[in-house]
Amino acid sequence: MSHNTPRRVACMTDEPQEIRIRHFSLADLPRVLEIEPASFRVVDAWSRPIFRKWYRQCPDLFIVAEISGTIEGYMCTSMEQKTGEIESIAVDRAFRRQGVASALMDYTLREMQASGITTMGLQVRTTNTGGIRFWQNAGFVPSGILPNFYDDGAEALQMKKSLT
Ligand SMILES: CC(C)(COP(=O)(O)OP(=O)(O)OC[C@H]1O[C@@H](n2cnc3c(N)ncnc32)[C@H](O)[C@@H]1OP(=O)(O)O)[C@@H](O)C(=O)NCCC(=O)NCCS
Repeated sequence: MSHNTPRRVACMTDEPQEIRIRHFSLADLPRVLEIEPASFRVVDAWSRPIFRKWYRQCPDLFIVAEISGTIEGYMCTSMEQKTGEIESIAVDRAFRRQGVASALMDYTLREMQASGITTMGLQVRTTNTGGIRFWQNAGFVPSGILPNFYDDGAEALQMKKSLT
């Protein structure tokens, strides 16, 4: 996997740093496990076995964003027939609103299109306004409510994006 289209994040002391998108490897797991609990509620945060499971199932669609050699975000997607499902995405708080998730999404979108995927879908907590705004900005539209979706009984907003 090569660098994505050049995107740069601001840096206080240096030239803007490029966001590098590459495949996840198991050596990245400790850093991803730092980002995860800082990004999700305890009931939603993935554990080490869940990350390993998705890595086994979808190694080509489990990607990380590196800035200056440090992982600051990750994204995990699965594909089934013509549909892509975004399983999870998170960015370190210190690097949010700088295009990191968009760079991960751009890479994933290109992979989806190259694989003939026609629709992408995801679920997000209805209370996650920042997440919903991110998905709307990426072209996703609400397609339904899934009651009792999360382990604590909370509902999910289902969102979809057509790639055709
Ligand atoms: C959602 C998340 C992945 C976005 O990551 P990010 O790197 O900050 O996103 P980007 O910088 O690429 O944002 C692109 C655009 O999406 C929108 N957006 C992103 N986060 C937003 C927020 N919190 N509030 C409102 N709009 C937001 C904005 O339009 C933004 O463009 P702008 O900064 O120029 O206004 C990040 O906030 C995160 O890790 N949240 C916790 C985990 C989570 O909720 N994951 C999604 C669950 S489905």
